[in-house]
Amino acid sequence: MTPFTIAIDGPAAAGKGTISKAVAAHFGFAHLDTGLLYRAVGARMLTGTEPVQAAQTLTAADLQSDQLRTPEVAQAASKVAVIPEVRAALIEFQRAFARRAGGAVLDGRDIGTVICPDAEAKLFVTASAQVRAERRFLELQAKDDTTTRAQVLADVIERDARDSERATAPLKPAADAVIIDTSDLSIEAAIQAAIAAVTPRMELRT
Ligand code: CDP
Ligand code: CDP
Repeated sequence: MTPFTIAIDGPAAAGKGTISKAVAAHFGFAHLDTGLLYRAVGARMLTGTEPVQAAQTLTAADLQSDQLRTPEVAQAASKVAVIPEVRAALIEFQRAFARRAGGAVLDGRDIGTVICPDAEAKLFVTASAQVRAERRFLELQAKDDTTTRAQVLADVIERDARDSERATAPLKPAADAVIIDTSDLSIEAAIQAAIAAVTPRMELRT
């Protein structure tokens, strides 16, 4: 099959990852969580590596760690993500993944706007900050992370602001993205909305 790219962007804990995995499985596409790249660079910064150096030397092994899902690493990721040279070092890998034969789903902040402006389908997945913080809080609780509900909400709001206000590749919907607000949607309903938005674009191609 010729390349077909599905770009899924949105703020923290909106449901991008959950929807991306399900959409990728539905269409038989590969999936790349691009947030992991920034989390891996952030994690290396926390252990003393200069962020641009870390981005330029990232390896597959750096993406494997369970430690990438902590609140500390999420904050570090959003701090390194404002550095233009860090973003530049990660572009080629993401674009090559997007154009692989067989189709690809990439989720992040700037996939539809900067990484793949010509993606065949673009979604912007969002939800209120309160709903997103509650979801992230429940996830952390399940992992025995003791971060409080109030702290998770403050973290989400701080990260959204940093991601939206940065000069390079800020978080925003592409002009041609379909917006899916998951605040009042079950996971299943959100997945169905995403598949329904992508399917007509697939049919245009075949
Ligand atoms: O990738 P992103 O940070 O945008 O979000 P996620 O990891 O897919 O979802 C964050 C959490 O919200 C997960 O625990 C999902 O199960 C949950 N979720 C939900 O409760 N309802 C939805 N409609 C979508 C996700
Ligand atoms: O899962 P969650 O939505 O909380 O975060 P993530 O997708 O793993 O992204 C972590 C951080 O990496 C974000 O807050 C952004 O600052 C940055 N990021 C980015 O700048 N561009 C992307 N394409 C993906 C993530």
